[in-house]
Amino acid sequence: MSASAYYELRECLLKVENVSLTLGGKLILRDVNVEVKNIVRPGMQQGQVVALLGPSGIGKTRLFRILAGLDEPDSGQVLVGDPPKYVVKGEVGVVAQNYPLFRHRTVASNLVVAGKQAGLDSSAAKEKADKILSEFNLEEHARKYPVQLSGGQRQRVAIAQQFMCSEHFLLMDEPFSGLDLNAIERVITMINEMAAADEMKTFIIVTHDITAALEVADTVWILGRDRDENDKIIPGARIQKNYNLIDLGLAWRHGVTEDPAFIDLMKEIRAIYPKL
Ligand SMILES: Nc1ncnc2c1ncn2[C@@H]1O[C@H](COP(=O)(O)OP(=O)(O)OP(=O)(O)O)[C@@H](O)[C@H]1O
Ligand SMILES: [Mg+2]
Repeated sequence: MSASAYYELRECLLKVENVSLTLGGKLILRDVNVEVKNIVRPGMQQGQVVALLGPSGIGKTRLFRILAGLDEPDSGQVLVGDPPKYVVKGEVGVVAQNYPLFRHRTVASNLVVAGKQAGLDSSAAKEKADKILSEFNLEEHARKYPVQLSGGQRQRVAIAQQFMCSEHFLLMDEPFSGLDLNAIERVITMINEMAAADEMKTFIIVTHDITAALEVADTVWILGRDRDENDKIIPGARIQKNYNLIDLGLAWRHGVTEDPAFIDLMKEIRAIYPKL
């Protein structure tokens, strides 16, 4: 039942090379090196879903901003696409931790504006917005303004909005925080459906929700710091673990949270967290 699925790794879609970042004299990221390759499943469309896990304050949002081209690292680089190009702000869809929306526009209108900004004409943007509103169970809120929504509803709108304009990459910072379990399941299902709808689509999801990360992703990166021989923390976070959930038989499965292998991996990650 937990046999791994057949797949191949092809060209590199995202490459992080020797990225380091210092803020306020403190080394936050130290030589981060990691890459995302195109996952190919014969006879199927399959995008990529990476979860970036790590304790609070470790540098997830900072790395996220560098991956999106919003911030420059002090050294190193981020390359996207094939052939690889330096990442440019605005070319990668981003759902930030504080999900900004136009306050003076309704939910539906926020989505349409995002679609137009991405180059759709009015009718195509409206059509896509309607589809996404229904996929996200947001139809009843379509005519409301952001201030009339709960925090979780606003977040769902912000995620929906990014699906309007992102081409291949979508970075999400804490898409599960503030959502109840049903809403988390909806977001996971949505991400998995979107990932399976486009061979080239790549999601990178920053979260500290270990269960949701393992449930949604095919790959899990854990950001953390090393310790020296005296068990003292060495400043600057790196990718400490890179789990391939496909090889572990835990990717692309409904009900995977019940699998003992899933529960074991969750325990393993929980156990290393305090050391990071
Ligand atoms: N402008 C800044 N100046 C100095 N230090 C900063 C600045 N912004 C962030 N930091 C520090 O960088 C570290 C990483 O912050 P970051 O926001 O990336 O953490 P995070 O992993 O996303 O945490 P959380 O899970 O709480 O969102 C933190 O220790 C934070 O204090
Ligand atoms: Mg953060």
